[in-house]
Amino acid sequence: MYNYSLHQHINALLSKHNIAIAGDDNLFYVRMIANADAIQDLYNEIYGDHPKATELFSNLIESVIRAYVNRSENFRKKDSDKAQKGDWFLSNTITGMSLYVDRFCGSINNLSDKLGYFERLGVSFLHLMPLFESPEGKSDGGYAVSNFRKVDERFGTLDDLKKLRQHMDQQDMYLMIDIVLNHTSYVHEWATKAKQGDKQYQDYFYMFDDRRLPDEYDKTMPDIFPESSPGNFSYVPECNKWVMSVFHDYQWDLNYTNPAVFLEMLDVIFFYANLGVDILRIDAPAFIWKQLGTSSQNLPQAHTLLQLIKQCILVAAPGMALLGEAIVAPKEIMKYFGTGAYTAKECDFAYNATQMALQWDMLATGDTRVMLAAQNDILQKPYGTTWLTYTRCHDDIGLGYGDDMIESAGYNPYQHRKFLQDYYSGSYPSSPATGALFSSNPKTGDARISGSLASLCGLEKAINENDADAIEISIRKILLMQAHSFFLGGVPMIFYGDEAGYTNDYSYLTDPGKSYDNRWMHRPVINWQKNELINEAGTIENRIFSDTQKLIAIRKKLPVIADHKNITWLNPYNIHVAGYLRKYGKQELYCVFNFSNSVSYLDWAAFKEQGMNSTIMYDYWTGMMLPVGYNDDYLIMEPYSFHLLEPQ
Ligand code: GLC
Repeated sequence: MYNYSLHQHINALLSKHNIAIAGDDNLFYVRMIANADAIQDLYNEIYGDHPKATELFSNLIESVIRAYVNRSENFRKKDSDKAQKGDWFLSNTITGMSLYVDRFCGSINNLSDKLGYFERLGVSFLHLMPLFESPEGKSDGGYAVSNFRKVDERFGTLDDLKKLRQHMDQQDMYLMIDIVLNHTSYVHEWATKAKQGDKQYQDYFYMFDDRRLPDEYDKTMPDIFPESSPGNFSYVPECNKWVMSVFHDYQWDLNYTNPAVFLEMLDVIFFYANLGVDILRIDAPAFIWKQLGTSSQNLPQAHTLLQLIKQCILVAAPGMALLGEAIVAPKEIMKYFGTGAYTAKECDFAYNATQMALQWDMLATGDTRVMLAAQNDILQKPYGTTWLTYTRCHDDIGLGYGDDMIESAGYNPYQHRKFLQDYYSGSYPSSPATGALFSSNPKTGDARISGSLASLCGLEKAINENDADAIEISIRKILLMQAHSFFLGGVPMIFYGDEAGYTNDYSYLTDPGKSYDNRWMHRPVINWQKNELINEAGTIENRIFSDTQKLIAIRKKLPVIADHKNITWLNPYNIHVAGYLRKYGKQELYCVFNFSNSVSYLDWAAFKEQGMNSTIMYDYWTGMMLPVGYNDDYLIMEPYSFHLLEPQ
């Protein structure tokens, strides 16, 4: 229904800011009017009964207006270019890399000199790990931010970042950075004021005079870092209070029941949008709403807040997409794309964390059935949204998929997870992997896995043992894992170092600010001399780099790989082989991956029952034509091999 009074109110606010509603700013005006009702409804759902709700709603609308006013011509033009392209982020032409600027090349300025490296590899999208000020030693890799608007001196300055953005523009590269929405550092200005006893800022956090409520919360809130930071509250001696700190004790949870907090953080989001961010990674969105008696994760209010953020961005900076970093159970991940009237109107991207973990499951067991059982959930992703697909990122690998999925393959969930933990931490007798358990929780038996792609695929052990055959197998595994995630649908995000086969880096053990967190073992410091080996034919670095490059190039050639929700899983004629069909218009691509350490035989019926009736298929990976056999004939696949087959 048309809301006359809201329209008048917005017109009045717009005229304060000299917005030319019938002139140059008309498109913005249309977006504002089209979304205003939704913004108001979502806002009221959370803050409607707050004593200052009306006044703060005007502030919110003004914040949206200011964000638009401050948006440069260049970024406004990019907004309209993206709008014309339609769902630009579903494209097969985007491949990303996630990296720590300091560990990759020292500083933001040096990164401009590395743009040629990305171009050569085929990477057109960068995720720069947190760059904003964060106290060294208590930074959680930058996820404990003490100033959301100041680039940490370790990396450079805000101007350096703006210059880098311009250089990336010249190469048509997309940029992603993080907004750490859930918490601030314990030395952020708001936290400092709270410690000094300022009530206004104490209300920015969840602060309590005694342990009564913290104990209540703790009863139902799980521990995120049970080893290094058990519990969800920390004592603050300066003000003699307890503060909620779900992650580390130096990361204080922001209190989003306070609308002032929401408005502050919305302004930060717009500040990042106006730096030219194409995709904003919302860190830990599952945690932003807390409620006694619940796990305080994935609560409906968290989704309402994300939808509100999305609507505001659609008005002020419509070219910026959102990635929700929700590493939660498969059914819960799906909700971050929005539900009901907000389907496909919350986060545009989510990490395909379930699929990622299940790839590791398949690699260890050689059995694809648990992965296939998860597809009922994974395939629910709404049209117009997409995944970040990946094999490794800076975090651990959690085995958070459902027990039902494990059981449907005939395994006992506890024993199955225990096997995977043992396999990747290297304690399973015949395991080639070198990894470690992260955040083991003896209370629940839960543990996640750390380790680089190469080390978990056995390369570290193979090199140490100077075992040429094992090196060969581990390289195959690395490429199998990458290929499987590159063609699934979604934007592949390579983790830096993986393109050159970096094994675990143990230098973190000598740094007291990192030694308590073994995720640092898979966050390497790049040695550019070693990287030179990518140019030397036959080296491990060269083989992995050039094959990764080749996979990216194949992706770029194939529009069928764009994410049109066009994936069909092949029936498991052979449980060791994962296979999917990507089909769009007339183009078809059959992608098959042998997760077994032996030769596998795949019945051609697996293809034919999908309607494939060609007698020959072209394999983009080997560059060979493959004659198609009859049913009951087999495609014979070498251990850890894969094919990307187009019927001719
Ligand atoms: C996200 C980050 C992780 C960090 C946590 C707390 O999950 O990816 O690295 O520890 O948030 O900010």
